[in-house]
This record gives sequence, structure tokens and C-alpha cells, in this order.
Amino acid sequence: MVKFGPPRINRAWRHAVAVFVVLAIHQPASAQLAPNTAPEAAAGLSAKTLALAKQKMVVAAHPLAVDAGLEMLNAGGSAVDAAIAVQLVLNLVEPQSSGLGGGAFLLHWNTGRRQLLSYDGRETAPAAATPERFLKPDGTALPFRAAMLGAGSVGVPGVLDMLERAHRAHGKLPWSRLFDPAIALADAGFAVSPRLNALLASEAGGASAFDATSRAYFFDADGTPWPVGHILKNPALALTLRALASGGAAAFYQGPIAAGIVQAVATPGPTPGGMTLDDLGAYAARERPPICTSYRRYRICGMGPPSSAALTIGATLALLEPFDLGVAPMTPRALHLIAEAEKLTFADRDRFIADPDVVAVPSGMLDPAYLNDRRRSIDAARSMPKAEAGSPPGVPQRRSGLDATVERAGTSHVSIIDADGNAVAMTTTIEQAFGAHLMTGGFLLNNELTDFSARPLDSQGRPVANAVAPSKRPRSSMAPTFIFGPDNQLQAVLGSAGGSAIILHVVKTIVGILDWHLDAQAAIDLPTFGSRNGPFEIEKKLAGELIGLQLALYGQTVVTSDAPSGLHVIIRRPDGMLEGGADPRREGVARGN
Ligand code: GLY
Repeated sequence: MVKFGPPRINRAWRHAVAVFVVLAIHQPASAQLAPNTAPEAAAGLSAKTLALAKQKMVVAAHPLAVDAGLEMLNAGGSAVDAAIAVQLVLNLVEPQSSGLGGGAFLLHWNTGRRQLLSYDGRETAPAAATPERFLKPDGTALPFRAAMLGAGSVGVPGVLDMLERAHRAHGKLPWSRLFDPAIALADAGFAVSPRLNALLASEAGGASAFDATSRAYFFDADGTPWPVGHILKNPALALTLRALASGGAAAFYQGPIAAGIVQAVATPGPTPGGMTLDDLGAYAARERPPICTSYRRYRICGMGPPSSAALTIGATLALLEPFDLGVAPMTPRALHLIAEAEKLTFADRDRFIADPDVVAVPSGMLDPAYLNDRRRSIDAARSMPKAEAGSPPGVPQRRSGLDATVERAGTSHVSIIDADGNAVAMTTTIEQAFGAHLMTGGFLLNNELTDFSARPLDSQGRPVANAVAPSKRPRSSMAPTFIFGPDNQLQAVLGSAGGSAIILHVVKTIVGILDWHLDAQAAIDLPTFGSRNGPFEIEKKLAGELIGLQLALYGQTVVTSDAPSGLHVIIRRPDGMLEGGADPRREGVARGN
């Protein structure tokens, strides 16, 4: 029987991870900033302690954003009210990861009505987009960075329309009130954080990678990023926020703000943007059916297509269900089994999942009989080579081709429980750090369209499900997730940053909580690991070499990885107390009362 709350904490393991984290933090800077270190990892680790609260809690990627969310909850606001205030402050203080220029998915739980809803605020391709958008004239794919920095990577932003819809349904405070903290901070300025500074400093091409507006905002006249602690004001964003506070989402999708977006995307670059005012005016966030699967008598619910998260996480957990993953965390056997399950589910994900409004996603990707059959490929003693996609029920007769989507580690996750017990899990993104590096109205524009496959056909000429098409949403890996107990009460709210590795991070955390009985912080602190149907990836800074050596005995090809998760977790304990954990790999905190 899985239990939440004491005495489930494995103190020895927590201590071991804490020691790893502290050692990593105290390495000399040169050890943390090796020349080939992924930019997203540049800011290193800082140990976090478990937060406890009686009633309400916010966990997000920056303390100022968390404080804005708590301010709303303490003023009687709902989880959605808090999420909106958090998102607006994140736009200012964590501009590299999310904001008005991007998209998001939001899961909402209404405990009184026992109602679970999911909202899709994913960006869309402009109507003029074609499948060849990221191809060079010779038919080969543009290098990722060229595609990312071009205006052609910018999708029609979806976050604000989604938040307004969610607020209409679940908001308690006036819309304009939710803008107060972000406007005050944009006017007064905020201190540049170590992570923001490190990401700017490690940007390939330096200041020249940014358009003139964002260059002038993030760098001094010599092209040096503002130092840690520099007070950065954003009057352009304050102006935008005031317009949205009074005019709502309509003031974003029409009028001067929309015109500013169209103009920024018209900037010449390697790929044309081609976004019009009509594209912005036509944008509509959607309510989608949430997807739930059972695991160890718990119900895991998340975001369906165009996110690949709930289908891939759900299928991975379903494949693992008959296996005993042990009580001691991170045994090589458990890691091997989890990776084998992930290989199978990523093979299906990469072949079949895309925007459900455009592509027929097979209906049976979680079908128990199908997954029982898939499970036969898992050998508990020996790693499989790269997995092939299966044939889930409902697979279209004309099978789609092999996907070539490149997904990097960006994004931000927000977990909230309010005083009524209602909850939000929202994962939000402008894709790569700093998105397309284009700024208008004080916010950065996303490069979400690079979440499409750059090539519309595979090497055998078969069309790829996640190819670019007009007004289509690119496939995502964002995984806002709820865990419900056997009594159907909400037990945990979680999600992560991290590109397609988000799926690995969330699987790790669910297994950490449900199999290994770890508390929220200890589950987050576990080294990141898993397989995206390639090698076994394990976190360089936290994992002992021993684990890699032991996994090699299973035939796993082990590679170390630096790409950081951004896990933010709230767990409701059996006594009703909330415990929250924030990822030591980023700057977030968990706070509540
Ligand atoms: N851009 C990250 C994701 O949607 O998965």
C-alpha cells in the first residue's frame, strides 16, 4: 500500500542527495561552467528545504513570482487568480522561460465540484506556414539555432487567452487586480538573478544573438549582460500590463500590442515569420479532455495532445505497473526497468502524437491489452536496442513517418493549491531560453514552432505527424500533472521544465513519491535519469559513477546529462498539511501558510 506522509521519508537517501547537492554547489565555478555545459545548466545548483503549510501553497521558479501568487491567495483569490499573478511576474523576472509571448497548459481541479479540467494555450503556426518552413532550398533541415533565431519560429502566443478563459471559469478576484504585483515590479525594477545573468552570459553569439530591443534591455552599451543584482526596470512591459489589466486578452490579440508582435516577427532573418493580425485575432485557447491512468492504486492525470505528456507518462507507468521497483530509491534494476518502459513509449510518442485538431492521434495508446503486449519487449535483465513504434488501436492506416523534432530544455512550471483545496498545475514556455530572441511590448516572443519536426517527410518519404501546417499546434512535452489517491482526493500537484526530458523528470518524481515514498523535496532532488529511446541519460552533477557502471551491466549505454529539470511539487499529507518542494537546479521556492 502506498502511503503519503511520515514515516515514508527515506532519511538516509535524503541526506545522501543533500550532500551531493551541497558538494556540487561548492565546486569551483570553473567546474560548473565547463565550456560545453548546456546554457540551461549554467547557473548550477542550490539546495532547497521542504516547505510546509496548513492550507495554501505556491511553488514556482522565482521567489517574487511565488510571493505574487501568495498575495492573491491571501487576499481570498483562487488558485487560478494566483497562477495568473505568478505568470505575469515570471514574465518579468524569469523572462528567459515563459511569458505573454508564449504558450502554456493548465490543469485545474475544483475540489467541491470534483471537476478536473485542462486548458490548452499552445501557440499556433501562422495561417501562411507550410511544411517546408524549416528546410533549406536544397531540402535539408536548417540547423536548429538558425531556425530558432529566425522569425519563422514564432507561433501565435496562447498564454493570455488561456488565462483569461480560466479566470472567467475559476477566478474570484477582479482580473485587473492580478496585474498589480507585476506592474509594481516592472516599474520599480527587480534584481537580475544569477540564473538570468548566467544564461545571458553563456548565450552563443552574446548580445548579437538578440534583436535590438532585447539587446538594449538585457545588456549594457558594451554588450555585457547586466550583472547579478542589477535593478532592471521594464517600462515597456509595465505599459503592456496596464493595457491588458484594463482591456483583457482582446487588448493583446488586437490593437497596438498585436501590431507590435506582427512587426517584430516581420524582422528579416533566416526564415520568414509571416504572422498577421488575422492570425492573432483568430487565436483561441481550448479546453481539452484531461487524460488519466492508474498506477499503484493512484490516478495520474495530465495534459493530452497536443502535449505528448499524459499519454507518454501514463503508458510508461502502465508498463511499469507489474514490476516491483523496490523501496530503496534508484536501484540499478529500477532505473533499467523505467528506461526500458520509456524507450517503448517515446517510440510511440515520436511517431503518433501531434495536434489532435489536425492529426488523428491513435485512440488506443493507453489500451491495456496493447500495453500488455508492448511490455513483453521489456527484459528485466537486458537493455533493448532502440525501440520501434507499435500499432496501438486506432492507428491510422497510413502510418506516419519517423519524427525529427529537436526539443531543448526551456520552460517553467507552477504548482498551486488554494484555501478551498482547488489546484492549478501550469507549465508555461517560450521554448528555448529567451525564445526567438525578439522582443516587443517588454516581453520576448517564443520560438515554439521549432517544436515541430523540421522535416515534413521521413527518409522513406512518409509524412511526419508533427510536421508544420497552417494554424497547427506544435507537439509539446509539457506535463502539468495531478495525482489523486484511491479516495479520489487530490494528493499531489507537479510538473517540470526541461523540453522533452520533462516526461522523464515527471516519471522520476511520480515513482519517487509513490514507489520510494519520498517527500516532495527528496523526490525532486533525485538525480534526473531516463531514456528518450536513445541512451540512458543520467544527471552529471548528482549521480555517482557507480550507477552508470551498474547500468552498463544491463547493457544500457549511459551518458551523463547537464540539462536541468525545473520540478515544482506540492503534496497533501494524510493530516491535511501541504508540503512543497522546489528544484535545486533552478531558483524557485515553495511557500505557503
Ligand atoms: N517547448 C517545450 C514543450 O512544449 O515541451
